[in-house]
Amino acid sequence: MKHLLKMSNMTKEQIIKLLDIADQLKYDLKHGIEHKHLAGKSLGMIFQKSSTRTRVSFEVGMYQLGGQALFLSSRDLQIGRGEPIEDTARVLSRYLDGIMIRTYAQQEVDDLATYGSIPIINGLTDFAHPCQVLADLMTIREYKGSFEGLKMTYIGDGNNMANSLIVGGLLVGMRVSIACPLGYQPSDDIIKYASKYGDNFTLTDCVKTAVCGADVVITDVWASMGQEGEQDIRKKAFAGYQINNTLLSVANDGAMVLHCLPAHRGEEISAETLESHQTEIFDEAENRLHAQKAVLCMTMSDKFN
Ligand code: CP
Ligand code: NVA
Repeated sequence: MKHLLKMSNMTKEQIIKLLDIADQLKYDLKHGIEHKHLAGKSLGMIFQKSSTRTRVSFEVGMYQLGGQALFLSSRDLQIGRGEPIEDTARVLSRYLDGIMIRTYAQQEVDDLATYGSIPIINGLTDFAHPCQVLADLMTIREYKGSFEGLKMTYIGDGNNMANSLIVGGLLVGMRVSIACPLGYQPSDDIIKYASKYGDNFTLTDCVKTAVCGADVVITDVWASMGQEGEQDIRKKAFAGYQINNTLLSVANDGAMVLHCLPAHRGEEISAETLESHQTEIFDEAENRLHAQKAVLCMTMSDKFN
């Protein structure tokens, strides 16, 4: 796998291989078995937005794999003063073995891949959050054993998480149902992509219809990074789009609840539901580390290709 730019660039086989590697790395870490697959390699981590999980999981992941990670805030890079992404890509390719970038426009991530000569990993854009979705898929398989016959539901904003969950969920063979208010639906490209999957994909504005018979129920914040100014208007638009125990009563018995975090209790998820599903939600957060190590191995080490 050359880059990880968005989920639709992956095949089902690549996702399953990545999840198998992540599971093995998790098992081995817990049993004290080290793997220095990236010894001597350096990952640059460009952040134009805040992060807790992505930054720490990639930095610790690189260390555990025998390499090093450089935190590059866009405020300190010349990018912040207008140096073009094309030049940044070509320069950083001379020093680094890979770049993970968190930014606004997907085009910047795609441009880094076009102009650079090293693997590029999307650590979140306004359009996609593939690293998170790989950790989510890992968590779902860990709890449910396989993806066979599962229905995955996402409630809330048709944002980066929704876009990536739809593609990832469909690729591994789950049925995917989405409930978003009108005006806050996933990207047109994603809806077009999903329509190829026929009845396996449904999009509605009715939360109850979407959650009915679900095995996995997922949500995310109503206002993503960069949308802070829309918080009040979004709170009104998303009223009723909360995952809570009443809504979950129509899901299948033993349904999982996932949230990429950070969460806003009392908005997209009730405090009670978050706490009663904290085991899987914090396993999901932990799995960022194992899934990200698998992403690093598959993009930056020849041994995995
Ligand atoms: N879920 C996630 O990407 O978290 P951070 O914003 O803390 O990296
Ligand atoms: N949709 C959220 C995800 C945060 C991990 C955001 O983009 O801010």
